[in-house]
Amino acid sequence: FFRAVASPPSSNFLLLGPSGSGKTAFTTLLEAKSSPASKKTHNTHTSQTSTFVSVSLPPSVPTASNRYRSINDPSLKEASRNPVRYRVKDTPGHGKLRASQGIATLQTMAISNDTSTKIRGLIFMVDTAALVDETVLRDTATYLHDVLLVLQKRELKKSSAKRSIGVPVLLAANKQDLFTALPPGSVRDKLETEIDRIRKSKTKGLLDASADAGLDTEEEEILGNDDGQGVFNFKLLEEEVGVKVEVVGGAIKGDSEDEFGSGVRRWEEWIGMCL
Ligand code: GTP
Ligand code: MG
Repeated sequence: FFRAVASPPSSNFLLLGPSGSGKTAFTTLLEAKSSPASKKTHNTHTSQTSTFVSVSLPPSVPTASNRYRSINDPSLKEASRNPVRYRVKDTPGHGKLRASQGIATLQTMAISNDTSTKIRGLIFMVDTAALVDETVLRDTATYLHDVLLVLQKRELKKSSAKRSIGVPVLLAANKQDLFTALPPGSVRDKLETEIDRIRKSKTKGLLDASADAGLDTEEEEILGNDDGQGVFNFKLLEEEVGVKVEVVGGAIKGDSEDEFGSGVRRWEEWIGMCL
């Protein structure tokens, strides 16, 4: 379908994830990079409300519409004068605020057909140094499970013809600068295993409840939309439901323009591919 070259400022990205994972630090960094004049300091306080910021993509980051352009392409010059803008919604990750803010925002944005509020992509931020802690892992996986279930329900409500364009999910494996950080592949494995556990206990609960009521279980309530008997992984979610989760490592601390493959560059590339 048709896509304008300069994407409207209404390309929205929703930022979710547990408290302390680095959502506000990321938002602040994007703002600082978009307008180098404003030297904002990173807000390291626990957020209690959501904020919406308008930022721009570095001109060297390709977007889906211009990915085949060469370095000599005049449109690259054009891009540095007129950078692609998008908006990021930072939400508070504290457990008590998730239902009323993160999940609630996701629900309204995900069902919205209005271009000013609908989401292009969802970024779920994870502190990869904290995941070794069982409690943090369980909490993170529970939040991610609930978020993915919202997206799954949205996909399954669509007619099958429309089902190929689910909201893409970036699992931003943050804090890779710390030596205690788990590598992205291991973050993925841990979260898949933990989500599988959550899914199994939920399936059992639903089966018991529906057996009591003499009803069939609703498969769409089970993440992965299978019978919940197999093993959960993100590939299953992509194949069964059309929700694609990509795990990409990065670090907000130490982001630098000239170091390719480090910092937040690869997350910006993911964002670019959604634009
Ligand atoms: P809530 O608002 O409570 O949901 O948390 P948040 O996700 O907004 O976390 P925030 O951005 O406030 O970051 C929490 C802490 O992690 C801060 O002290 C940041 O400086 C730190 N932090 C964020 N990103 C990185 C990173 O890449 N590396 C390191 N070492 N620390 C980071
Ligand atoms: Mg915050």
